[in-house]
Amino acid sequence: MKTKLEDTGLEDQPNFDILPRISAERLSTVTSQQQQIPTEFNKVLVIGLGQLGLPVAKYVREIGYDAYGYDISPTAMNIAERASIKKAINFREFDVYILCVSTHKPGDLFSPQIDGLLSVVEKLSFEAKNGALLSIESTIPKGTSKKVFEMLHHRLHVVHAPHRWYAAEEKEHGINQPRVIGGVCDCCLIGGMQFYGGATYRYPSDNNNNNNNNNNNNNNNKMSLGIPMHPVTEIEIAEVTKVIENAHRYLQIAFAEELYLYCQANNINFPELRDALNTKWNVNILEPREGVGGHCLPKDTKMFLQSSKSVRSKIILAATEVDKDYRIYRQTRAQTDLGI
Ligand SMILES: NC(=O)c1ccc[n+]([C@@H]2O[C@H](COP(=O)([O-])OP(=O)(O)OC[C@H]3O[C@@H](n4cnc5c(N)ncnc54)[C@H](O)[C@@H]3O)[C@@H](O)[C@H]2O)c1
Repeated sequence: MKTKLEDTGLEDQPNFDILPRISAERLSTVTSQQQQIPTEFNKVLVIGLGQLGLPVAKYVREIGYDAYGYDISPTAMNIAERASIKKAINFREFDVYILCVSTHKPGDLFSPQIDGLLSVVEKLSFEAKNGALLSIESTIPKGTSKKVFEMLHHRLHVVHAPHRWYAAEEKEHGINQPRVIGGVCDCCLIGGMQFYGGATYRYPSDNNNNNNNNNNNNNNNKMSLGIPMHPVTEIEIAEVTKVIENAHRYLQIAFAEELYLYCQANNINFPELRDALNTKWNVNILEPREGVGGHCLPKDTKMFLQSSKSVRSKIILAATEVDKDYRIYRQTRAQTDLGI
């Protein structure tokens, strides 16, 4: 394989494995203290009002919560205010904080960086209300949620509910769609489930009480977002679920690109081959189009590659190489068509 790690830009990324870890002992102490589990939520603040945060804030408002927003960009804030999202003057007195800030380097959409998110958490560590719920909906590298939890000293409950929102199909794949959620402690997860799903969710180990039916009529008719959530026992599973979903999509596109190049080299009609292949019940070859698009797929795929030092996905590294070859092919063909 030609791709070297240094060519992928992976090695200059932060090493999240060295983030302080919460020892099992400390976690159990904190859990046994049984931070009060929030049961009722009224004031909700969405921080980061971009492509994801704005529809999240609108949805929260439509459900009936007292919805506030905050963004460092005055433009984003103005757009949100025009959509009746109230501007938060500070971070005090909210029951829920939803983080939807960007998680890439300021000048490089394809490289992960969580400095902005951590600066928000720093501010929350001083201002946020005791026992409130903090939900990270931004896509984050493995280890981030526990880092956030440590910064807050469990003064807030921390869950990660990564988003699957898809701008091109907002109706089918918008805010309310099946999603994964993890909590740093069990009490965090219970609070998160109450806010998102309204389910009478209890401890993951307590099979008898684990009645996760995501029904708004549960939980004494308390308001919830009514989103079908899939809880996981370790928050790292929620963190890597999101980046692996996108790495999987990257792989599917790269395979289509490779097949396309194969067809060009062997004088085979790609659309006809694709149609023929897709007649089989378990085959779904995509169209390669412009190659791997947007910034989330490359950024999140990098997060996946960075999430393990010992076992790095060879197949994903090969896919990044295929995507490069496909782009070079398209560029060369475009230049030839223009007679350059
Ligand atoms: N857009 C999507 O389709 C989508 C889908 C799933 C997940 N995500 C994830 O959600 C997160 C946000 O993505 P997006 O597409 O909305 O990005 P975006 O760039 O459209 O919006 C991010 C917003 O966060 C604001 N922001 C950045 N730092 C801030 C800070 N310190 N304080 C307050 N506001 C801050 C920015 O001004 C911007 O308005 C990313 O982690 C992304 O990977 C996005």
